[in-house]
Amino acid sequence: MKISNLYSVALLHWYDRHHRELPWRVSPVAAKAGIFANPYHVWLSEVMLQQTTVQAVKPYFAKFLSLWPRVEDLAAAPTDDVMAAWAGLGYYARARNLKKCAEAVARDHGGIFPDTEAGLKALPGIGDYTAAAVAAIAFNRQAAVMDGNVERVISRLFTIDAPLPGSKPLMKEKVAELTPSDRPGDFAQAMMDLGATICTPKRPACALCPFSSHCLALANDEPERFPVKAPKKTKPVRYGAAFVAVTPDGEILLRRRIETGLLGRMTEVPTTGWTARIDGGTTPEHAPFAGDWQACGQIVHVFTHFELRLSVYRLSHEKIDTDGGGWWEPVTNLEAQALPTVMKKAIVQAIPLAFSKL
Ligand code: ADE
Repeated sequence: MKISNLYSVALLHWYDRHHRELPWRVSPVAAKAGIFANPYHVWLSEVMLQQTTVQAVKPYFAKFLSLWPRVEDLAAAPTDDVMAAWAGLGYYARARNLKKCAEAVARDHGGIFPDTEAGLKALPGIGDYTAAAVAAIAFNRQAAVMDGNVERVISRLFTIDAPLPGSKPLMKEKVAELTPSDRPGDFAQAMMDLGATICTPKRPACALCPFSSHCLALANDEPERFPVKAPKKTKPVRYGAAFVAVTPDGEILLRRRIETGLLGRMTEVPTTGWTARIDGGTTPEHAPFAGDWQACGQIVHVFTHFELRLSVYRLSHEKIDTDGGGWWEPVTNLEAQALPTVMKKAIVQAIPLAFSKL
């Protein structure tokens, strides 16, 4: 037997007994009989699982399948309905791509997902990870599937000292070496289950691990040292201002952000022209209209690529004509607005009880 087979045999034996039962998965008994999971289910669950945990995904997965049982149904759904069903999972661009991918499968492939990694990768919104996962799990292709859980398992097994993300290609080579030709889909799912349940970031349950006699990190008694990560780059700090205008009737001036870019189409209080790359104005001269704007301090919000510090100003003012540049919304109705967290923080800085149910 090839050495690499020792690993997959041990892992698959463990998976046969200890696999998690998940709504988008078929049992190892079915997979061994050549019955694989529905590609639409696998694809949908994998896209959702990039956002959050298995537990959090379950109700979303069920909701999507009850609304749109087939990929053609999702393709035909109004985008706003898909966005609403996705709400709470975050990263709305992913929901838009989900819909575009469903449309491409329905339109260009007769509703049948391509059955190779390359064919899947050609679809909108499908990257290396999703293509490999769907090819392996739904089509039993010998694709090397690597996510954060798998990186942890593999880096411990072989004590890979080079830091992530630079060590990813080396890790992927190792995963490819270990991935068997006969049960690649079960192998991929087993690696993920092992990472999620046994080979955990802190206090891994090495005594229960099918790799315990092969694992170099365990032999050195230092599994928690892996995966090694490059020190986080400090994020650039950007500055700007946010203006909270309130009428005596308790209405607040809101507007809609432009379609494109960060927080596209979402609602905001007027702010200055900050972006990930440039600062906006921070003083009351930049307010949407002149008045005795009161400084209320600063809020900080951390985006993926930068930290934003907004100086917040408040003004009590009669309602003025917004001339199409926004609208006045009762403070009691803010919950129903598409306000991103950074804007909620700015409003609360100016009106501390704005979102309380009092
Ligand atoms: N996390 C992401 N995809 C998964 C899968 N297919 N099985 C288990 N955990 C996962």
